[in-house]
Amino acid sequence: MTDPASTVALISRLWREHVRNFKWQIALIVVATLIMSGATALYPALIDWAFTMFAHKDPRILYQVPILVLIVTSVKGLSMYFQAVLTQDMVLRVIRRLQMAMFGHLTAASLSRVEREAPAQLAARFTTDATVIREAMTRAINAVADFATVIGLVVTMITIDWKLSLIAALVYPLAVIPVQKIGKRMRRASGGMQERMGQAAAVLNESFSQARIVRAYSLESHEKARAETTFTDLYAALIRMARVRSRLDPMLEVLAGVAVAGVIGLEGWRNATGGAGVGNFMGFISALLIAARPLRALGTMNAAIQEGLAGLARVFHVIDEPAAIADAAGAIPLPSGPGHVVFKNVAFSYPDGRPGLKNLSFNALPGTMLALVGASGAGKSTALALIPRLYDPSAGQIFIDGTNIVDATLASLRGAIAYVGQEALLFDDTIRANIRLGRPDATDEEVTAAAQAAACNFIADMPEGFATRVGVNGHRLSGGQRQRVAIARAILRNPRILLLDEATSALDTESEALVQAALTHLRQGRTTIVVAHRLSTVRDADQIVVMSDGQAVETGTHEALLAKDGAFARLVKAQALVA
Ligand SMILES: Nc1ncnc2c1ncn2[C@@H]1O[C@H](COP(=O)(O)OP(=O)(O)OP(=O)(O)O)[C@@H](O)[C@H]1O
Ligand SMILES: [Mg+2]
Repeated sequence: MTDPASTVALISRLWREHVRNFKWQIALIVVATLIMSGATALYPALIDWAFTMFAHKDPRILYQVPILVLIVTSVKGLSMYFQAVLTQDMVLRVIRRLQMAMFGHLTAASLSRVEREAPAQLAARFTTDATVIREAMTRAINAVADFATVIGLVVTMITIDWKLSLIAALVYPLAVIPVQKIGKRMRRASGGMQERMGQAAAVLNESFSQARIVRAYSLESHEKARAETTFTDLYAALIRMARVRSRLDPMLEVLAGVAVAGVIGLEGWRNATGGAGVGNFMGFISALLIAARPLRALGTMNAAIQEGLAGLARVFHVIDEPAAIADAAGAIPLPSGPGHVVFKNVAFSYPDGRPGLKNLSFNALPGTMLALVGASGAGKSTALALIPRLYDPSAGQIFIDGTNIVDATLASLRGAIAYVGQEALLFDDTIRANIRLGRPDATDEEVTAAAQAAACNFIADMPEGFATRVGVNGHRLSGGQRQRVAIARAILRNPRILLLDEATSALDTESEALVQAALTHLRQGRTTIVVAHRLSTVRDADQIVVMSDGQAVETGTHEALLAKDGAFARLVKAQALVA
């Protein structure tokens, strides 16, 4: 409870946005809870009654008491079951809502937001925070049951013997202080735990996804050392929490012992001086012992709830992050046009401060091919990334058919563009599904036609044809096959602007020829901006922009630039362009 206002704010927001819909389920949980607590509170009364009969040799003890005990325990068992199932069902639905809200937000968030954390670290937010929130909610709901049970038991105790009750009541308020202190610590420790969990997930994910490199370079011991450091950090974070958490239970246990000892002492004294009967005493002690468990649960609940609130705060924090790249107020759908792309003095720095582009200008006329060339790191891929607004320029503008792209809706802008990246990465799904991502409403015939146009003849040789699954990142296909699937996807999209980042790694000649054929088909009738590494592509281009250090240093046709004998000619001579 570092900041009570924010605790109240968190809980009321959770209620408003996610829990309120479950009113009926909550009502049922309350009913089940009350039945369960009532049955628990009746139990010591039964014992009290049984012992009293016992003392008086009452024959009813033979039939009435056992039957009543069976009835009470069955009712309790049944209500326990329903309470648990209904509670978990509601809690898990709330968690699913939170996960969807967070996922929806992160998928729509800017690329720079998502790139800030390792993919596995982002993914871990969905599991670690979900776990602590689930635990806290379950504990909070069960606390209602525990609280009702304790109240019921107190009523029973007072009915049996109010003087003894007074002794027990004096002890328990002492527990409040450590309970508060430990709760505070748990909330603080929770952030460290979540962070470490995320780091561990990231290390593991990297190590497994780079399995080839790890083996090929015999990096097993290196990876083991890395994993060990991570696990040790995780251990340290978890043991810190465990130590804090573990202090509570024993403290509460001892307090319960003090209460029981006090009661036995007083009762012994009263017995010696000719006081109450054995039935009362047994009933009272059993009530006290039965109360110990729910009281302990109430005592440790605060710590769990603080941990859950910390998790909830993190989830809401992610959901509330404003999207850096979003539709501007009054954004319009991109007007249709032939695909005229203009860069005007565009500058851009990456979030970490690395300059990507400094002052880039060019003019890609409709239906033509513009090639960006330049040394590695010159900013070619960065320039392409700005067109679908994966990032926004820090200065300058980009126009498509006369419209500044920041004035168009993101959906219409991105709908006008197809992008084929430097490395073709596919989703772990069938070939058909991967191609269809280009235009989700395409028919099977259209998918097949796009594959044919992209020279995907290898699909026919696959055991399951278009239904073949490609594996994670498409690793079951060759590099050239992956690229052709990615090109088929772009053909299916049929965009007015095509962005192409040629693979830097050379394919074998045959595969290369197939990819080239697919690309030629894809380029027809569209404006193409291509990051070119191959001489053949550069020769075919209508215009070449030579980039260096984030700027255009030369612009012109292949012949003109060669004749000029400047930066482009040097690039060609240095064979920076692969023939
Ligand atoms: N996500 C990123 N975060 C920070 N800096 C980046 C990021 N991506 C690229 N850069 C930096 O921006 C500069 C331009 O990179 P870019 O990827 O545009 O180069 P490129 O011209 O495409 O090179 P290549 O031919 O090797 O693909 C480089 O210095 C690079 O380090
Ligand atoms: Mg690049």
